[in-house]
Amino acid sequence: MTADLLLALDQGTTSTRTIAFDPALRPLATAQQELPQHFPAPGWVEHEPEDIWRSSLATLRDALAAAGGDARRVGGIGITNQRETTLLWDRATGRCLHRAIVWQDRRTAEYCATLRAEGVEPLLTERSGLLADPYFSATKLAWMLDNVPGARAAAERGALAFGTVDAFLIWRLTGGRVHATDATNAARTMLFDIRRGAWDDELLRLFRIPRAVLPQVLDCATEFGTTDAGLLGGAVPIRGVAGDQQAATVGQGCFQPGMVKSTYGTGCFALLNTGAELVASRNRLLTTIAYQLEGQRHYALEGAIFVAGAAVQWLRDGLGIIAQAAEAGTLAAQADPAQQVVLVPAFTGLGAPHWDPEARAAIFGLTRGSGRAELCRAALESVAFQTRDLIDAMHADWPAAREMVLRVDGGMVASDWTMQFLADLLGAPVDRPEVRETTALGAAYLAGLQAGLCPAPGDSGATHWRLERRFVPAMARAEASRRHAVWQDAVRRTLTH
Ligand code: G3P
Repeated sequence: MTADLLLALDQGTTSTRTIAFDPALRPLATAQQELPQHFPAPGWVEHEPEDIWRSSLATLRDALAAAGGDARRVGGIGITNQRETTLLWDRATGRCLHRAIVWQDRRTAEYCATLRAEGVEPLLTERSGLLADPYFSATKLAWMLDNVPGARAAAERGALAFGTVDAFLIWRLTGGRVHATDATNAARTMLFDIRRGAWDDELLRLFRIPRAVLPQVLDCATEFGTTDAGLLGGAVPIRGVAGDQQAATVGQGCFQPGMVKSTYGTGCFALLNTGAELVASRNRLLTTIAYQLEGQRHYALEGAIFVAGAAVQWLRDGLGIIAQAAEAGTLAAQADPAQQVVLVPAFTGLGAPHWDPEARAAIFGLTRGSGRAELCRAALESVAFQTRDLIDAMHADWPAAREMVLRVDGGMVASDWTMQFLADLLGAPVDRPEVRETTALGAAYLAGLQAGLCPAPGDSGATHWRLERRFVPAMARAEASRRHAVWQDAVRRTLTH
């Protein structure tokens, strides 16, 4: 039987979903489950590993069934995942020693402050492309080894395995036969030398991580092993793996240096492809691996902001001024143009390019005339203002990116009003693709590439990306600059350093 299906498993922060694609990368069926969140202490965020596993297996099975397929028809599974989230499990039993510590978790903030005070941040950045922030896996893993009784000794004996979500799922899907990750996920651990493409002994020593816990690091499109035959009704090869933002970069077809995508989920992550060139940021962006194919690393500059769609959720769930997210755009369009209400959504601190974990959200410019519409506009505009800050930092770091077009995806891009304001503020076209599930699309493409079902990035046929609508800037540049200056002033008043 010929393979005519690709399964993309997207294990995200708040939900797990599998989308079945045909080899032309058209979505055929979707299965989705919410993922419960655990907040055991202020600033702590955890996931139950068994919830991650159960929802992944269930959605794989459901999407395969909904597509009317069986295991023999699957050319490959592509896994994409919330990045940095850290798991540690027993190699003999497969059981995790602790709940997964989620990327948003701030429990190691003090540890990171100590690292900065000791002056080791330049070394971390030089090797890993990252910053001394609790966001990344290294301090989370160190915390587990230090706080779970017996963990350090067991790790040193070689009895434990560490992984980001992809590695954990590969392990479970292959019945514990494979302990592997891909280069993009490894690049988010702060233990990986992104120049050499290898785990770094100096960083391992610094964080006191025994080498024995680490997975093997592979390309994004390769043979990661086959699933246990009992799981999906037959052995299915796992052939693509990438962290979710990198998978979205691939799904957006950003294969050429200078191409940039921005994904609007809970937060927002913008990645600029810099090709074979590793660009060290002078503006507090991250340097990361965009994808690795045939041993060849392609790099990106990344800007991560923590609150995008979460600002709209706050309007709905926190303030209760809208019933559904989609209302925010309608109300924003009705806001009084003479008012300048600005929301700095630093609910969990500020990410790039400020990296201020202590900053807290603030609203400026309220008058007696300010109401729901002005607050909705301020929330949506904050997403565009933050994107502009990221893109400005990218331009400053890599002037070759000046002539850019921004490719957007994620839930928020459904709002035409927000996308138009984004184009106005950037003074650059904003392209919205037909398939907005670009993360899953990227994972399916990587699996399809390895399966020989999809063309290589350089091939002329490699155009899985199709434009749905282009938003062209319509605002005068002077007005855009004036609006941006008001935002920058509000951010300055919010920062703690
Ligand atoms: O770096 C964190 C990012 O990978 C999480 O993405 O879409 O699961 O919130 P998401």
